[in-house]
Amino acid sequence: MKLFRPFNVVVDFETGDLTPGKKITRYLSDIQHFFLDKEKVKAVLAKENPLVYEVIYAEVPEEAGHLAHCTTIIYPGKVGNEFFFTKGHLHEKLETAEIYFTLKGQGRLIMASPDGEECEVLEMFPGSASYIPPCWSHRSVNVGGEPLIFYCIFFADAGHDYATIDKTGFPKVVLERNGEVVVENNPNW
Ligand code: F6R
Ligand code: ZN
Repeated sequence: MKLFRPFNVVVDFETGDLTPGKKITRYLSDIQHFFLDKEKVKAVLAKENPLVYEVIYAEVPEEAGHLAHCTTIIYPGKVGNEFFFTKGHLHEKLETAEIYFTLKGQGRLIMASPDGEECEVLEMFPGSASYIPPCWSHRSVNVGGEPLIFYCIFFADAGHDYATIDKTGFPKVVLERNGEVVVENNPNW
């Protein structure tokens, strides 16, 4: 049996950098279809294409038994009154759980059952360790004025199903109203 060697990565709690790691970037154009206000999205994209979030992965084989881990950095911003968020997904292996440990910033974690009948929204804040049980889709939202940075641990063979969320979105949306963070039903659900 070939042994996989133990290794460290170093996480910078201030910037979310994870070294050594592999970074992916998501711009507004990548997630534009999820936002409620299509006109506002168009207006923003006519001027610029802001970076919404980055994910930096430790390099771990995508095999059963391994634990994948990464940091996510969601930059502060809104389209209209809707805060920046991640695409969101289900795990292809539905029965796999995940933990999000928040290092910096303020957020909300929207979770839904596969049929969307159940939906829960947890607060994310420095020190919160949010448990995403098996079968819940998940999307995180930056509701603050600084980057929201969190560290995720999940089964390396979980796989990511983005197609389902692409079709449906999430049952709830997180908006700013009169300077307050509010969670409302998604009118397009
Ligand atoms: C992995 C996981 C997180 C997200 C990351 C970006 O299972 O839940 O690492 O992948 O926060 O969000 P998505 O993948 O929805 O673009
Ligand atoms: Zn996940």
